Amino acid sequence: MQSLNPNAIEAALHTRRFGRPLIAVAETASTNTLARQMAADGAPEGTAVVADRQTAGRGRRGRSFFSPTGGIYLSILLRPRKTAEPGLLTSCAAVATARAIERFAAFPVAIKWVNDLLIGGRKVCGILTEGDLDPRSGALRFAVLGIGINVAHAAFPPELQNIVTTLADEGCAVTREALIAALLEEWETAYATIDSGDFLTESRRRSAVLGRAVTVLRGTESFEAVAEDIGETGGLWVRRPGGERLCLCSGEVSLRL
Ligand code: BTN
Repeated sequence: MQSLNPNAIEAALHTRRFGRPLIAVAETASTNTLARQMAADGAPEGTAVVADRQTAGRGRRGRSFFSPTGGIYLSILLRPRKTAEPGLLTSCAAVATARAIERFAAFPVAIKWVNDLLIGGRKVCGILTEGDLDPRSGALRFAVLGIGINVAHAAFPPELQNIVTTLADEGCAVTREALIAALLEEWETAYATIDSGDFLTESRRRSAVLGRAVTVLRGTESFEAVAEDIGETGGLWVRRPGGERLCLCSGEVSLRL
């Protein structure tokens, strides 16, 4: 497996701010951690960090993210003017990432609220948005949006083998460099609409959960519900069996089959 070629990414990149600068490293614990350090040191919005592999990639709910060479591990620094909901940033990124993958793929990409992208029901991409709040005012100082995409075929741990897929396994032969350039372009375009929430219509259309029975994991509790809608702030509206309707702004759902 060849190392990522940052010159090939830059040659294919047509953005104004996203990926400028683009920091490419062979290995790091987590590109989100590196981007957060750069943010604290004053790096500008749009700074992107990409790694060939991560030694301690992070997923949601404190999970690790399997990050061997051959995948894309990319984080971008955002400094939203308004205090955007982290869920809205994640929804926006999910739509933009689906569009980027579909530039090269012959299959549709679905979104499992709020941070997973699926092909044929299997996870191909995960998104982790981390915000940094001012301790006094509670205002969002910056957010780091990190995505991991399974690109090349890989030897996944047994517990992941039946639930994940890779672009290569689905017959999509895009290079990591071309996909990274497309991701940065689609993110920049979608992020420009963050205040309007226009991308939410597409988020609903791509949803793998709307109308489905789901199990909701929230904190330490879990309950059954039906997913009904994605709200204007990116939250998921669900209805519990007793009829109670509630909006999840974080948490996680798994599909019940
Ligand atoms: C999830 O599936 O729960 C989210 C996974 C997010 C993984 C990406 S890889 C790039 C960035 N760096 C990390 O440590 N995590 C995110």
